[in-house]
Amino acid sequence: MNTSFPPTSASTTNAHTTTERHVKVTVPEIARMRANHERITMITAYDVTFARLVDRAGVDIILVGDSVGMVLQGEDNTIPVDLDEMEYHVRLVARARSMAMVVGDLPFGSYQVSPQQAVESSIRLMKAGAQAVKLEGGVSMADTIAAITRVDIPVMGHIGLTPQSYHRMGGHKVQGRQNGFDAGNRERLIEDAHAVEQAGAFSIVLEGIPLDLAAEITTKVSIPTIGIGAGADCDGQVLVLHDVLGLSDHTFKFAKSYADLRSTVVAATQAFVAEVRDGTWPDDSHSFH
Ligand code: KIV
Repeated sequence: MNTSFPPTSASTTNAHTTTERHVKVTVPEIARMRANHERITMITAYDVTFARLVDRAGVDIILVGDSVGMVLQGEDNTIPVDLDEMEYHVRLVARARSMAMVVGDLPFGSYQVSPQQAVESSIRLMKAGAQAVKLEGGVSMADTIAAITRVDIPVMGHIGLTPQSYHRMGGHKVQGRQNGFDAGNRERLIEDAHAVEQAGAFSIVLEGIPLDLAAEITTKVSIPTIGIGAGADCDGQVLVLHDVLGLSDHTFKFAKSYADLRSTVVAATQAFVAEVRDGTWPDDSHSFH
């Protein structure tokens, strides 16, 4: 380790420390929360810095989402993300040693080929430090979910607007608005939810569906539902970290920015640039004698 520049410790006090968790969140704890009608919170993170911060804020689950492809890599959708990349980001987040449960997203192409492929990919994310994996799909993924849970890897399902189905959906489109049993239709999504539950998943993300459908699914399944763009009647809510922090390029109807870090980052960088240019940085107190 380079000891020439010892770090000064950052302040850890803030107004919200009362939400901090002191006990590791586990699969049984998530089930207990649903049984006790305690809302579950999940947020994405892709590195140790933000994983530590969201953990300190007391979030229940950190999702290392394949949204990394859009948020950090600048892709239009999540399809290009591969398993090596997810393994890398899970490893970074796991180093936070969070109280929050860490869920690793299985990227497109890492589980659709066969249940065996899905088990092998899940094992890689678990060895990198995940405590559970997430995958997209309902009825068509039931055997795959069952195979993963059979080797004691907890699975979080994900139905509705499943971003890896980008090309079938014709973009990131709200699902469940039409009746029927075709993929993405209302009755099919109810079947999907039942299939995910019966296959052994411990929870299920409902993304981009009408709020009344999300409410119906939440009453019909016994595992917790975690919504994004699915209304307030789910058992929990998930958002992408960069949306919450106001770091994203776009705003979305289903998301909320609780901060404006874009402005903060630009202002801080502008101040640095200005001080270097006018010679006020570094000053004597930040120099060595
Ligand atoms: O990859 C991701 O961030 C997700 C959430 C939006 C649920 O799947």
